[in-house]
Amino acid sequence: MLKLAVFISGSGSNLQALIDACAAPDYPAQIEVVISNRPDAFGLERAKAAGIETAVVDHKDFGSRAEFEAAISLELEGRGIDLICLAGFMRILTADFIAQWPKKIINTHPSLLPKFGGAGMYGEHVHRAVIDAGEKISGCSIHFVIPEVDQGPVILQKTVKVLDNDTPETLAGRVIEQEHIAYPEAVYKIAQSRA
Ligand code: GRF
Repeated sequence: MLKLAVFISGSGSNLQALIDACAAPDYPAQIEVVISNRPDAFGLERAKAAGIETAVVDHKDFGSRAEFEAAISLELEGRGIDLICLAGFMRILTADFIAQWPKKIINTHPSLLPKFGGAGMYGEHVHRAVIDAGEKISGCSIHFVIPEVDQGPVILQKTVKVLDNDTPETLAGRVIEQEHIAYPEAVYKIAQSRA
């Protein structure tokens, strides 16, 4: 059984997809803790409703990224975490933190990486850029996290058509539906490969 820590900053709809997947008796992973850097993240409510332990580590309470991450590490300690799932987590992790979890941190990104990734490419910015570039296909990528933002090895991708009348909002709505399918699949795939 793969033990997961899920990091969130907001709505947590991808967290919900993982919660729902983990509820199936034959799913090979379980969520040990949900960590949010924002005290008001709705995803915390989703975790509590599912009976999952939560921790808030508010980056604003720390003078440096290193101190912020040390506080996160304390929350992870002793839980036997196998995999950290970033799910709408809006802080960039340092190379030091990532090095402590080699090939054990994954993320979801709402584009077909390596296209439309990198710092500044989040939320609506991604979908605006996809539409402005005249792309016919977009989608999502679940990938391993390395220090270079959005450049880690891709685990799996799902595609959606970009429609002529798409706005960033409508495109985002269809891409996130695919993230909700892709994220549990990626975790499943990792669990199988480590079994
Ligand atoms: C997702 O589209 C994710 O790719 C992006 O932020 C969104 C998170 O949504 N980084 P949610 O918090 O899981 O609902």
